[in-house]
Amino acid sequence: MSDLETKIISPVPGSYNLANYQETKASFTWEDTAQELSFHKTGKLNAAYETVDRHVDEGYGDKIALHYVNDDEHRTLTFKEVKDKTDHYARILLNNGVTKGDRVFIFLPKTPECYISILAVIKIGAIAGPLFEAFMEDAVKDRINDCQGTVLITDNELVKRVPKKDIPSLETILFTEEIEATPYDSSRQEDLVEWVDEDDGLIIHYTSGSTGKPKGVLHAHRAVTHHYQSGKWVLDIKEEDVYWCTSHPGWVTGSVYGLFAPWLNRATIVIQGGRFSAEKWYQLIEDLKVTTWYSAPTAFRMLMSQGDLYKSYDLSSIRHVLSVGEPLNPEVINWAWNKLGFRIHDTWWMTETGGHLIVNLPTEPIKPGSMGRPFPGIEVGILDAEGNELPHGSVGQLAIRAPWPGLMKEIWGNKDKFDSYFQYEGWYISGDLAVQDQEGYVFFQGRDDDMINSAGERIGPFEVESKLIEHPAVVEAAVVGKPDPIRGELVKAFITLGNNYPETKELLEEIRIFVRKNLSAHAAPREIEVVKELPKTKISGKILRRKLKQAEIEKSEKLHV
Ligand code: WT7
Repeated sequence: MSDLETKIISPVPGSYNLANYQETKASFTWEDTAQELSFHKTGKLNAAYETVDRHVDEGYGDKIALHYVNDDEHRTLTFKEVKDKTDHYARILLNNGVTKGDRVFIFLPKTPECYISILAVIKIGAIAGPLFEAFMEDAVKDRINDCQGTVLITDNELVKRVPKKDIPSLETILFTEEIEATPYDSSRQEDLVEWVDEDDGLIIHYTSGSTGKPKGVLHAHRAVTHHYQSGKWVLDIKEEDVYWCTSHPGWVTGSVYGLFAPWLNRATIVIQGGRFSAEKWYQLIEDLKVTTWYSAPTAFRMLMSQGDLYKSYDLSSIRHVLSVGEPLNPEVINWAWNKLGFRIHDTWWMTETGGHLIVNLPTEPIKPGSMGRPFPGIEVGILDAEGNELPHGSVGQLAIRAPWPGLMKEIWGNKDKFDSYFQYEGWYISGDLAVQDQEGYVFFQGRDDDMINSAGERIGPFEVESKLIEHPAVVEAAVVGKPDPIRGELVKAFITLGNNYPETKELLEEIRIFVRKNLSAHAAPREIEVVKELPKTKISGKILRRKLKQAEIEKSEKLHV
């Protein structure tokens, strides 16, 4: 690791919310955080109240809460307007019989109404289930069925991808077009907040593992302390910030760091609709004078591949940039630092962890290639196969001393799966492999299972394989991550074909589209290779994905020498 240490990037001088990492780390407790939020007075809380309504009550109703940008459309809403709209949506949910603990799904594009729907559900004590806007029928169906969602908020376009007859629990579908067309008298000022206990359910995010269907990771209202404190120290949010998180709220980054954390800290957020475009992204930063920007390695690599394009834009408003979701290459950090003039601060966490655990704080040196150091109040362990802690410098299972406020409350309906994260007394096991140096910096070494990470999105091979073999031509399938310079990994499928199916380009394309149409675009294999047979273990006959993956890694290494 010594060669890495020579490339340290020092902090940019400035005034940051957390001034001294070592001192804070020594004295911090999560109880301190609760004191800064309003619920410490009563013990009861509501995350939607803390996120938006509190600011209105404290005199910040006229502050701009959000900018929405989508091509030529630009709307702004103040905190008071967001509160009123949230009340409107909440009232409609109540009128439709939604009660505490019900699962209400939200299937909307990245618009203010998506954020407002999530808050409305939470405000009345129900559990919000936000879905990524690119999901197709099966992905939507599997998630709502898994936790028996009763109500869905969607729009006239996305409803076409909701297979209603296959979702028996779904009683009501609400359309944002209709809600928006219904008048709401905001002068009524009803008190719609359902005050709940810390452990009551807040939001459910579905995420993939290496086996089985996606799992419903349920978070509790107590997570707001984690969201608030990490927003304050890691995102370094100040009231005057214009903060842009590029993730959709259907992913945990988009809800926790796109909605809760910045608004708990009273930032003005940017909601950007539409697809990635280097020109539009740079233009947005210039136009809205974005100060704080949270994105992912794939996006930074795509911007980097555009060469000098950044020179045509004024990016001088930016003061703090962060990354999450997949390994951030030192090359990308160095590009941003040398060409764009800012450090990219990598952060590590997972859907299950509910908030940042390993971070690069703005006051601390960055070691490119490292994900950073433990957040105050968080203890990292690198464990061997028996659960014993390994010394600095050894590769092992990345574990975190449990619990902490953001940690998931349960995996919906699957206690065994939940328990499997806690097989060593006192530890949460992440499934990642890592090494920690003497100074506490943690370096990602890969996954400990077959999970694929493409463009920062977690893809379970089993889900894709199951869909592939539903196609009549496919007999068996194995799906692995193939190294890719932009997306980190891309989804590659190895398949065997039935006797009557000749291997043609058209057939392979048809199979690819079949997965894309039924499951989702991000999980559809970018490459399909037909093989005579798949490698399997001798005894149990399990498909050896690792062997296929290793061969892909070796091929890509050959290309690079
Ligand atoms: C997995 C979690 C909640 C964050 C968004 C992804 C990988 C996450 C990093 C990082 C290398 C990372 C891990 C982790 N991952 N952050 N900074 N460097 N890998 O959440 O979809 O639940 O995936 O993403 O493998 O286990 P997720």
